[in-house]
Amino acid sequence: MTLERTFIAIKPDGVQRGLIGEILSRFESKGFKLVALKQLVPTRELAEQHYGVHRERPFFKGLVNFITSGPVVAMVWEGEGVINSSRKLIGGTKPLEAEPGTIRGDLAINIGRNVIHGSDSPETAVYEIGLWFQKSELNEWKPADQTWRVED
Ligand code: RTP
Ligand code: MG
Repeated sequence: MTLERTFIAIKPDGVQRGLIGEILSRFESKGFKLVALKQLVPTRELAEQHYGVHRERPFFKGLVNFITSGPVVAMVWEGEGVINSSRKLIGGTKPLEAEPGTIRGDLAINIGRNVIHGSDSPETAVYEIGLWFQKSELNEWKPADQTWRVED
């Protein structure tokens, strides 16, 4: 079993719309383990580094303006296959095309207001976790009901 960690962020629209609890509960209910969580208003520098891969895209400036426009809830979730599985829980980038049952499919209608971010690969996850969190902010712990989620 390969334990993975992924970086998940509830974007300013998700926070403003009161969707934090709803979104957290989907990851909790699935059975993944929360190892870090904080709320912050990202600096421009952080947002530009986070979305650096899109630097040349026409939507880049608007995306950075949006992501720095208010508090974001930044998280790290852990579990086997959590990177890919989180992307499935989140749904496609365009909310109107995201499957019903996914976070974007259920809770959003616009690509620029798609409420949540999730790392898209193991390499991206390592980069993003390091960008948003200090090592000391990541908690090592064993949920009391661990044996009821995963086999030894
Ligand atoms: P994210 O990085 O935020 O989790 O979203 P994603 O992987 O599903 O999509 P990505 O291609 O990485 O795009 C990052 C964010 O940029 C905005 N976007 N706008 N107007 C456009 O054509 C366009 N394309 C992307 C979206 O808000 C997307 O989440
Ligand atoms: Mg992306």
